[in-house]
Amino acid sequence: NKMRRKLVVGNWKMHGSHKANAELLAGIVEARPFGCDVAVCVPFPYLSETAVTLAASDVRWGAQDCSAHEQGAYTGEVSVGMLHEFGCRYVIVGHSERRAYHGETDQLVADKAKAALARGITPIVCVGETLEQREAGETEAVVKRQLSAVIHTLGHCAGEMVVAYEPVWAIGTGRTASPEQAQAVHAVLRAQLRAATARADEMQILYGGSVKPDNATVLFTQADIDGGLIGGAALKAKDFVAICRAAG
Ligand code: G3P
Repeated sequence: NKMRRKLVVGNWKMHGSHKANAELLAGIVEARPFGCDVAVCVPFPYLSETAVTLAASDVRWGAQDCSAHEQGAYTGEVSVGMLHEFGCRYVIVGHSERRAYHGETDQLVADKAKAALARGITPIVCVGETLEQREAGETEAVVKRQLSAVIHTLGHCAGEMVVAYEPVWAIGTGRTASPEQAQAVHAVLRAQLRAATARADEMQILYGGSVKPDNATVLFTQADIDGGLIGGAALKAKDFVAICRAAG
């Protein structure tokens, strides 16, 4: 997988404050250069200060969700046009927390991914099974169904997304998928992408779920794991930087 540059993305979720962000971002910027692509996906209100702080660096930034609509009467929503104005390079769509707590369907996630690409923002499309689904032997079927909706909706642009495999049972639990478990699912996703786009072998498929400095290296050396989507460990510069180093 030498042809793919690794990507490490911090998903801050609903964490942060002006003070904590300044410290965290400074810690990341100071630790450059990295041998991989690095990005942070921050809460909407912090996009402005993040853009200002990172503008002169090669660290990228993005958001954690977007609307599928261009504009209009959608109270509380944020459009991809707005994200574009703040220089977002990425937007996470379909995170399991949004699927679970906000009822996001596979099709809505696909529509959000399409809206993002239309503004030149790379969607990081999350897929992943629950513990129940894994124990019922449904892992492959679930992630394939989730990805298939996006592939069909994006059509010839499918090769432009980033995919993130996040087993729900590994998120915030300290229970990581083993490198073999993760690689097995990543291989399934890569095969599905190959059937859809000639760019499949250049696409980044990230692993997310309790990635820490001490397990990042072994995960990132798997053939089809091209980096990570990091939650808890992305809130401390020291840990996040260590994970970025493991990728590059
Ligand atoms: O999007 C990243 C995330 O869901 C993983 O969270 O805290 O298990 O690294 P965490």
